[in-house]
Amino acid sequence: MPKKQNSTTTRRRFLVGTAATTGLAVAGGVLPTRFAIGAMAPIKIGILLPYSGTYAALGNAITDALKLRIEQAGGKLGGRDVEYVAINSEMSVPKAPTNTEKLIKKDEVDFLVGPVHSGIAAVMAKIVGKRTAPIMIVPNAGSNAVTGPLCGKNIFRTSFSNWQPAYPGGELMAKEGHKTAVTISWKYGAGIQMMGAGKEAFEKNGGKVVQEILIPFPQVEFQAHLAEIAALKPDAVFAFYSGGGATKFLQDYAAAGLKDNIPLYGPGFLTEGVTKAAGAAAEGIKTTLHYADTLDTDANRNFRSAYQAVAGRGADVFAVQGYDTGSLLLQAAAAVGGDVSASADVIKAMEQATFPDSPRGDWHMSKAHNPIQDIYLRQVVNGEQKLLGVAAKQLEDPATGCKLV
Ligand code: BEZ
Repeated sequence: MPKKQNSTTTRRRFLVGTAATTGLAVAGGVLPTRFAIGAMAPIKIGILLPYSGTYAALGNAITDALKLRIEQAGGKLGGRDVEYVAINSEMSVPKAPTNTEKLIKKDEVDFLVGPVHSGIAAVMAKIVGKRTAPIMIVPNAGSNAVTGPLCGKNIFRTSFSNWQPAYPGGELMAKEGHKTAVTISWKYGAGIQMMGAGKEAFEKNGGKVVQEILIPFPQVEFQAHLAEIAALKPDAVFAFYSGGGATKFLQDYAAAGLKDNIPLYGPGFLTEGVTKAAGAAAEGIKTTLHYADTLDTDANRNFRSAYQAVAGRGADVFAVQGYDTGSLLLQAAAAVGGDVSASADVIKAMEQATFPDSPRGDWHMSKAHNPIQDIYLRQVVNGEQKLLGVAAKQLEDPATGCKLV
């Protein structure tokens, strides 16, 4: 039986063939160097993100900002053209293996960018982690496992772990004097892990979580659960929702008369990118996240106006993560002069990448390949995420179970 080839080998053979048949071989029949061959083809970026359903806005923001960053640098990576191959994840965990395999084996992508959803991230990491290529960059999904037990040399994240923005949120709730809380979220990786981190921090600081509500993803029937919260009368509620589901939750929470009586907290996804749609229902809510609209830096201001100009909408944390994914790709491809098949050197460059011009402020990769970054305290004021301070300085995920650490 013939030996199974990995995608890099197959692709390189194709390129060698192309070079030979197009007469690009040098005189004397010697094939061009690997670099010269690779330089002819575009670098392929496979994208697996949601473009429909409750997380559609997140997928669009990441994609638009990723392309913006690469365009700002001349539209090339390490001197080579770029080709994007995007698949709508539909936020479907059952479809994730087929979608991932297609990008790796059929499209032979050099990099795999995705996903948004923690459940899909775990599936992708299991597939990618068994290989040496492609290199996967997670531009959102916070699954703790991806930079924990499932971490891998060729798996990087430019966003956050679910623990990171949630733990300081639980601390905040306790610091603001609340003694009892109810947690509410969707029943899948992100919801479970964020609520777990918030609860841990709240209880370590003297609070008590009296009820934990989890509803199926991406369900948005909140009425019965809000009635339960009203009956329990906790001091505060801690919630994770995002995208369209967050808008609906905020509106229902306000409509149920809870907003003025039981303060709502959570990781910042609860109000991120939805303040326009949620209107008054989002005003005043304090959350913790690795970005705030009003960060007072030139990098943030320049990014926000460039993004508004190309996307026709305001920037949010999802756009920031896409933008920084572009910066990571630019640095990695430049370090190897465009020869991204040199995986070990690409990985080294990614591990050492710096982000002094990130809209979120300075951050760098941990040993587990997850951002070490500031977590901000923000409040929605006139539809904007106003910066109130830094909730946790250069916070590093514990990366429990990661063999790289
Ligand atoms: C997640 O599934 O990991 C996730 C989705 C939306 C926002 C934040 C996290």
